[in-house]
Amino acid sequence: MSCYKKGESIDYEKYLSNKEEFELDKEYQKEILERERKFLEELKTANEVFDKRTLMILFSILAGKHLSEYIGVINSGKEAVVLKARKGHLYRAVKIYRVATCDFKTMLKYLQGDPRLHIKRSSRRAIVNAWVEKEFRNLKRASSIINAPKARLRRENVLVMDFIGVRGDPAPKLKEVEIDWENAFKTVKDFMIKLYEEELVHGDLSEYNILVKEDEIYFIDFSQSVITQHPLANALLIRDCINICNFFKKKGINCNYKDLYKEITGKEINPIDEAMIKTL
Ligand SMILES: Nc1ncnc2c1ncn2[C@@H]1O[C@H](COP(=O)(O)OP(=O)(O)O)[C@@H](O)[C@H]1O
Ligand SMILES: [Mg+2]
Repeated sequence: MSCYKKGESIDYEKYLSNKEEFELDKEYQKEILERERKFLEELKTANEVFDKRTLMILFSILAGKHLSEYIGVINSGKEAVVLKARKGHLYRAVKIYRVATCDFKTMLKYLQGDPRLHIKRSSRRAIVNAWVEKEFRNLKRASSIINAPKARLRRENVLVMDFIGVRGDPAPKLKEVEIDWENAFKTVKDFMIKLYEEELVHGDLSEYNILVKEDEIYFIDFSQSVITQHPLANALLIRDCINICNFFKKKGINCNYKDLYKEITGKEINPIDEAMIKTL
């Protein structure tokens, strides 16, 4: 199957007419086709392009009744697009990695130190798939101990998780809200400690990857998370502590990254780990 190349667009009409039909009953097939058509329209309006394989995966998730409908784009980044979707009366978030523009060299660096994953092939797509599998597992582990979206389904470069928001509106980021900063800092620290106790380091923690839903803190985006045995875990944790302290200091909270690191790990920062931050 051909992959989407940068700049190439897909003739959706042609794609739909050639598409293999699912073996489903006629009424349901009609309903699904209508939803697909609506979704493709939506993508066109949002100027969003996915490769054919990704579209097939998205549609097979609809046909398999894992989701009822794709509603719209929440966020469109260089590496991933996050969609809002619905399953019955519940909203879901769907994170779709762009295979063509992912930084797969960096991905490989993080994947290689993870004993949970074995990459047999090293094609671009295989690396992205392993990356999404890692995020899926990290989310599962994280959401069982702290506030984080529950991972629901993973298919190749597509990950379905719980939607963090109120009545269909995605929750704002920590940087966009006004809350009790003392309490917020306590919670963030508590979540970092709990993750570490379960041998997980977020690795990309900042006011951008923390959402606030009805005054409750949620960590999201566990794509860079590593287990504590990973060779880069300490450096990533130091960087997380620096980012968090820099943000909370601006909010008037007395915060020092070295103390935060010690509270989380029970250890002092090793200067070699701190020097490694430059290589991340
Ligand atoms: N489960 C979710 N519920 C609601 N919004 C989400 C969810 N996951 C991601 N988002 C939104 O999409 C944005 C990008 O998602 P993120 O996982 O951080 O991807 P990226 O790797 O592009 O930073 C987030 O900043 C947030 O606004
Ligand atoms: Mg993010």
